[in-house]
Amino acid sequence: MKNIFVYIGSQGGESSNTLRFTNLILDRVLELTGKNVNINMYHPQNSHIKRCLGCTSCFNTGKCHLEGEDDLNKIKEKMLASDFIILGTPIYGANISGDMKIFFDRITYWMHLMRLAGKPAMALTTSTGNGVQFTLNYLNTAMSFLGLKTVEKFNANIFSPRQLDDDDFMKEEIDKYSQIIFEYLTGKKEVKSDDSLELIFSSMKKNIKMYESCPNYEFEFWKDNELFNKSTFQHLIESIPKQ
Ligand SMILES: Cc1cc2nc3c(=O)[nH]c(=O)nc-3n(C[C@H](O)[C@H](O)[C@H](O)COP(=O)(O)O)c2cc1C
Repeated sequence: MKNIFVYIGSQGGESSNTLRFTNLILDRVLELTGKNVNINMYHPQNSHIKRCLGCTSCFNTGKCHLEGEDDLNKIKEKMLASDFIILGTPIYGANISGDMKIFFDRITYWMHLMRLAGKPAMALTTSTGNGVQFTLNYLNTAMSFLGLKTVEKFNANIFSPRQLDDDDFMKEEIDKYSQIIFEYLTGKKEVKSDDSLELIFSSMKKNIKMYESCPNYEFEFWKDNELFNKSTFQHLIESIPKQ
């Protein structure tokens, strides 16, 4: 069975707009797949992610000093086992929420490894319409560094204009995004590299190679996983066995 991983960076719990928006899409995906998909949904109400200590241990050793003290290990396992990833956040102060940033901070070391290479992903936000492009672009950038291909990114306004509560407007959006997820889950659509993924891959390769004389965790990961041998990110994606 295919797996969808979701992280929603909202404190709103069941009343979160972002969770509601995401669930509308996921309900439709469940219909399209005949419920033949696992959804692993995490948010600050059902999981705990501690703030990064800033010690840089993860970059050098692959180990975090907070390991085992919160739910991040389980969340990382679910991400690695997923076939599609959705990251959703309310827009706060014209950017992602603090909870979403804590999530990214704790997996920043994966950005040097492009650890989620080849997985399709979607970025969702809800807001009152301020700072939307900046936030969606930021999400796209962070996701690309993780190796994710952002196949769609979308904001639903809660008012001015009122989109989230406009059933006609939402139906069209929900149909569109659920169909895209369905096509990636069933293999009708396949992830393709793009200019920004290629740029991140080539500059990261050059930077990590500099550790050759005193190999650290990142260098060993690139070597063990034969990332240095891949001429392009597209080449890397094509070499990943299908789950
Ligand atoms: C502290 C705070 C800051 C916010 N900042 C913005 C903002 O900069 N731009 C915007 O469009 N909406 C902003 N909003 C509105 C939220 O993005 C909006 O209500 C969102 O749908 C909340 O999502 P949630 O219910 O999933 O937490 C802010 C809300 C709060 C509570």
